[in-house]
Amino acid sequence: MERTFIMLKPDAVQRGLVGEIISHFEKKGLKLAGMKLIQVNRTLAEAHYAEHQGKGFFEPTVMYIMSSPVVAMVWQGKNVVVLARELMGATNPANANPGSIRGKYGMDISRNIIHGSDSVTSAEREISLYFKSEELIDYPKAGDEWLSE
Ligand code: CDP
Ligand code: MG
Repeated sequence: MERTFIMLKPDAVQRGLVGEIISHFEKKGLKLAGMKLIQVNRTLAEAHYAEHQGKGFFEPTVMYIMSSPVVAMVWQGKNVVVLARELMGATNPANANPGSIRGKYGMDISRNIIHGSDSVTSAEREISLYFKSEELIDYPKAGDEWLSE
C-alpha cells in the first residue's frame, strides 16, 4: 500500500490546528502508519528541503520548520501521495482551493501549515529521513472493509 510523508509545520502546532488537520486525513479514509512530535534540527531541515538549495526561499523555509515543534506523520492508502496533495491544496494558501487545508487555514506562502511529499520517490526519501522502519506500523483497521471492495 502506498505511503506518504506529511508534516504539520510549526504554525499548525502553534495555532492549535493539529487535531483539525489530522481529521481531514482520518475522515477521508486514510490510515495512520506513524506519528511523532519533533523539533527539527538544521541537518534535517536542510535535508528535507535539499531540492530547493540555492533558491531565495531556502533559508527562510529551513528557519521556519526549525522554529518550533512539528508533527511528522506517515499516512497510507490507495494513491495517497496525490490524494494528500489535493487535500492540502496549492503551495500558496492565497491560491489554494478554499476547501483544501491550506485554503481553509492559511493566507501566506511562508506560513503554509503543512508539507506533503510530491511523488512516491520523494515520499520514500522523506519517510526515511524522519522515521525508522520499526516506527511505522501496518495493521488491519476497523472500517477498512467499508472503504473499498
Ligand atoms: O510544499 P510544496 O511542495 O507545496 O512547495 P515547494 O515548492 O516544494 O516549496 C517548499 C516550501 O517552501 C513551501 O511549502 C513553502 O513553505 C516554502 N516556499 C516559500 O516560502 N516561498 C516560495 N516562493 C516557495 C516555497
Ligand atoms: Mg515540495
